[in-house]
Amino acid sequence: MYTLWHHCRAVTMSSGKYNLLSNAALLTHGAVIFWVGEYDELPDALITHRIDLGGRLVTPGLVDCHTHAVFGGNRAAEFEQRLQGVSYAEIAAAGGGIASTVRDTRAASEQLLLKQATQRIQALRQEGVTTLEIKSGYGLDLESERKMLRVIRQLGRELPIAIRSTCLAAHAVPSEYQGRSDDWIDHICNQLLPELYHEGLVDAVDAFCEHLAFSPTQVERVFQVATELGLPVKLHAEQLSLQHGAVLAARFHALSADHLEYLCEPDIAAMAQQGTVAVLLPGAYYFLRETQQPPVDLLRQYGVPMAISSDMNPGTSPMLSLRLVMNMACTLFRMTPEEALAGVTLYAARALGIEDRCGTLEPGKEANFVAWDIEHPAELSYWLGGTLSKHVIFQGEEVYYD
Ligand code: NIG
Ligand code: FE
Repeated sequence: MYTLWHHCRAVTMSSGKYNLLSNAALLTHGAVIFWVGEYDELPDALITHRIDLGGRLVTPGLVDCHTHAVFGGNRAAEFEQRLQGVSYAEIAAAGGGIASTVRDTRAASEQLLLKQATQRIQALRQEGVTTLEIKSGYGLDLESERKMLRVIRQLGRELPIAIRSTCLAAHAVPSEYQGRSDDWIDHICNQLLPELYHEGLVDAVDAFCEHLAFSPTQVERVFQVATELGLPVKLHAEQLSLQHGAVLAARFHALSADHLEYLCEPDIAAMAQQGTVAVLLPGAYYFLRETQQPPVDLLRQYGVPMAISSDMNPGTSPMLSLRLVMNMACTLFRMTPEEALAGVTLYAARALGIEDRCGTLEPGKEANFVAWDIEHPAELSYWLGGTLSKHVIFQGEEVYYD
C-alpha cells in the first residue's frame, strides 16, 4: 500500500546538498518516506495511489527552528520609537521590550493566544513549513509559562504541522524579581522547569545569555537542571555582545547556539568540536538595523553547520516569511542559496534534535515535502515574498494546495 508521487524533480538535501534528481519519484507508506530516487529505478511495490506533481520541484518540508510565535499584543509602537533613534536596549531598560510583551501575554486568554498564533503559523504553512519550534518566555511566572506551553502543545494537536516546544523561562527577569535575577534563576531551577517538564510541556530548554538578560553563570545553572531532567539545551548567544555563551552551549552539548553576531573564533572551534549547530537569524539583524554580521566565513571554515530561522517575535523579528529569511541570509550574510535551503531543512532539523525524522528526503523520514512551481531551487531564496508553493505534504497527506 504505497503512494507514488511522480512527474517531478527533487532536491533531497542529504548531507546539506541539493543532490538534484531530474526525473524523480517518491514512494510513501502512510506518514513515512519509503523510497526516493530517479523514476527509472523505482522498486517493485504495491502502488495504490499515483499523484502527478506536474513537473514541479520537490524539496523537504521546511523547518523553522527558532520562533516565539505565541505572544500577546505587538510592539509596532516601539518600532516607531526605534525609528526615531531610541535603541532596543534603551526601550528594554525603560520597561518596554520583552517586559511589555510579558504584560500582554499574561493578560491574554489561552484562546486568544491560540487564535493569534494560528494566524501567524498559517503564513508559514502556506510557504511550505511543516516543522516549527516555538518558545515560551513571555509568561515569566509559572502559570503564564504553563499557559504559553499549553498553547504550543494545542497548536501542535490542531494544525497539520509538527511543533516542538522549548521552555525559555530564562528570557528576561520578570518585574516581580527586578534586581533579584538569581532568585528568578533559583525559581526556574527548583520549581518552574521541573514542574512544566513533568507535565509533558517541554521538549528543550533555552535561555537568553546577554548583558541585558542572564550571565553565563546563571545560564549554566539552568542548563544543569535541564541536563538532569534529560532535556536538550540551546541558547540565545552573542546577539548584542560577546558573552561566551556559545562556548557554554558547546560544553553542554547544546543542539544549537543562536544569533551569534558577536561570536569569536575560539568559540567557533568549540562549537565545531561539539557539533553545535549555528542558528543565524537575519530577520532580527535586519529589523534591529544591526551592523555586526555573524562570522559566516569562519563558521564555514570550521565546518559548523548553519541553520537559519525566522525568530518570529514581536520585538526584534516580526517575521512571517521563512523564504524572506532565506533571501536575507543570502543578501545580508552572503550565504549561498544552497546553504540557505540546507539551513531551513537538514540543519534546522538538527538544531531541534530531530534530524532522524525530518529535514531531508530520505527513506524512513516523515513524508513532509513541498512541490514548488519553480525551475531551480535557488528561486526559493531569490523571489521576495509571494507563496510559490503549490503542494505541501505533511506526514503523507496533502495539507495545502493553491
Ligand atoms: O530572539 N533575543 C531575545 N529574544 C528575542 C527577542 C524578544 C523580544 O524582543 O521580544 C529574540 O530576538
Ligand atoms: Fe529568539
